[in-house]
Amino acid sequence: MKIIKKIALAVLIVLIAMQFYRPKKNSTQGNHTITFITETNPSPEIKKLLESSCYNCHSNNTKYPWYNDIAPISYWLANHIKEGKGHLNFSEWEGYSSKKKDHKLEEVIEVMDEEVMPLREYTWTHKEAKLLNDQRSSIIEWAKRTRVLYQLNQQPQ
Ligand code: HEC
Repeated sequence: MKIIKKIALAVLIVLIAMQFYRPKKNSTQGNHTITFITETNPSPEIKKLLESSCYNCHSNNTKYPWYNDIAPISYWLANHIKEGKGHLNFSEWEGYSSKKKDHKLEEVIEVMDEEVMPLREYTWTHKEAKLLNDQRSSIIEWAKRTRVLYQLNQQPQ
C-alpha cells in the first residue's frame, strides 16, 4: 500500500510539473488560406465545411478547446495538429506545386470516400465537424473539378 501511495504522489508531481510546459500554439492572424480559397474556388457552403471540419488540423490556425490548457492533453493535440499539417496544410497552399496540389486533392477525395476524416475521436468532441453523406459528396465533386485545373496546369505549354 505504501508503495502505491508513493507512485501516486510521483505521478501527481509529474502531472503538476507538466502544466508549466505548454506547446506553442498553432495560431495565425488574418486570411491565412487566401491562396487556397482563391485558386480552388469552393462554394461558400464547402468553404464553411472545410473551415469547421478540417482547418483545426490542416491550417496554420487552430481554434483550441478549453481543455487544451491541460497537460498532457495539450501535447496530444499539438501532436495531432503537427501531423495533420505535415500531410496537408491549406495555409501553405502557395508553396505546393501544381502536381502536389493535384495529389493532395486526390487524397482529399480518398479520405472523403473512406470516411476517415475528420478523425473519429475529433468528432466525439466536435459534433459540428461531422460530415453528412451529401456534404462528403459535394466536397468530392469540388475536389474532382479542381484537380482538372491543376492537371491542365501541368501540361507542357
Ligand atoms: C483532429 C485533427 C484532424 C482533423 C479535424 C482533420 N484531419 Fe486530416 N489528418 C489528420 C492527421 C493526424 C493526419 C495524418 C495521419 C493519418 O493519416 O491518419 C491527417 C491526414 C489527412 C490527409 C492525408 C491522408 C493521406 O493519405 O496521407 C488528408 C487528405 C486529410 N487528412 C484531409 C482532411 C480533411 C479533408 C479534413 C476535413 C474534412 C480533415 N483531414 C480533418 C488530422 C486531422
